[in-house]
Amino acid sequence: MESWQKLQAACEQCRSCSLWEGRTHLVFGDGNPEAKLMLVGEGPGEQEDLQGIPFVGPAGKLLDQMLEIIDLTRRDYYIANIVKCRPPRNRDPLAEEQEACMVWLRQQIALAEPKIILCLGRIAAQRLIDPDYRISREHGQWVQREGVWLSAIYHPSALLRDVGKRPETFDDLLSLRDKCRELKL
Ligand code: URA
Repeated sequence: MESWQKLQAACEQCRSCSLWEGRTHLVFGDGNPEAKLMLVGEGPGEQEDLQGIPFVGPAGKLLDQMLEIIDLTRRDYYIANIVKCRPPRNRDPLAEEQEACMVWLRQQIALAEPKIILCLGRIAAQRLIDPDYRISREHGQWVQREGVWLSAIYHPSALLRDVGKRPETFDDLLSLRDKCRELKL
């Protein structure tokens, strides 16, 4: 636990890209650092920046509701983002911002030692699974790397905009539930 605190304290000091200039709060992570399931989003939005907690805005509320259907709460997983500071006007984080910030996520992954990483949306999937990842074609598929199972679902913001994507996401979440059971998480 001490290492988590040290890591977060170091992250709070980060000035490796210019996103820190616009932040109200750095958004390090939330949930259970001991959990073997990790969820990774893109970067903080307005509410996350104001509260310093990932996925607490409208997209986060939808995510919580969807995960509750498969009996998962924040006690059951750890959740963080590729970038820890809010990009201006919620634009996609730039490649160099993502690269600069990955130093923190890599250490979060090293400390949490997840058995499953679920990417929330294209940006996280392209960073963690495959730079050419096509979310519309590949969501819900599983790959195993160095003992960690990885998959991606549509970003909850996309599901707010397009309810037509929700049924396939529900299938992906059932597959996540099966994977958690298989690995006895
Ligand atoms: N979208 C994300 O990708 N992350 C958050 O924390 C909130 C919205």
